[in-house]
Amino acid sequence: MNAIIDALHFRHACKKFDPDKKIAPKDLDTILEAARLSPFSFGMEAWKFLVLHSDAVREKLRPACWDQAQVTDSSHVVVILARPDLVTPGNPYVDKSFAGRGLPEDATRAYIEKYKWYMETEVYPRMNLYAWCCKQCYIALANIMTTAASLGIDSCPMEGFEKDRVEAVLGIDTKEFEVAVLVALGYRAGDQPPRRRHPKEMLVEIR
Ligand SMILES: Cc1cc2nc3c(=O)[nH]c(=O)nc-3n(C[C@H](O)[C@H](O)[C@H](O)COP(=O)(O)O)c2cc1C
Repeated sequence: MNAIIDALHFRHACKKFDPDKKIAPKDLDTILEAARLSPFSFGMEAWKFLVLHSDAVREKLRPACWDQAQVTDSSHVVVILARPDLVTPGNPYVDKSFAGRGLPEDATRAYIEKYKWYMETEVYPRMNLYAWCCKQCYIALANIMTTAASLGIDSCPMEGFEKDRVEAVLGIDTKEFEVAVLVALGYRAGDQPPRRRHPKEMLVEIR
């Protein structure tokens, strides 16, 4: 059909991983490259991908993730961290990021102002910067899962965790980083349930 659609058919939220099957470093690199290449609004790249392979660390983490077996039975868990502090208007990182585009000085200044205005008029009335960063982190999450699937690797996205507890267990400096979402990666053990999706007519409207 199409390589991406094939990967999307292969992907499912894997609940049962084979704990003996590990992802090869080369494949893990490919998956993380897909994360790195993901787009972030205004090009801010305010994220970090914390890769957990250690059994000991994942054992410690599991109770903070609703005791989900995917945390320990998968091969790796990627913790996607958001960096809201970094992208606060006025943070020198924001100015540097726009300056790095190589535009004339007045265009750079206009971008910085537009960013601040966008935050004040569109983002802050609806959400905080953590939530805004999380929206971007979920794009990387999707790319991680689709790329993994294209390599025959299974995944389970995970929102089922206690954020404060996960951050404490992993010793995250929450002034700089906050956990957005987790994804377990590895290989399925046994068959998976059939896919359930609404029909296209219910979801797609073309005008
Ligand atoms: C952001 C996000 C978080 C999720 N969190 C969990 C989770 O913590 N544990 C779990 O077993 N499944 C989790 N899921 C899986 C969904 O329940 C699953 O994707 C949905 O039922 C559709 O099934 P499918 O992905 O197999 O097509 C999550 C999915 C998403 C997109």
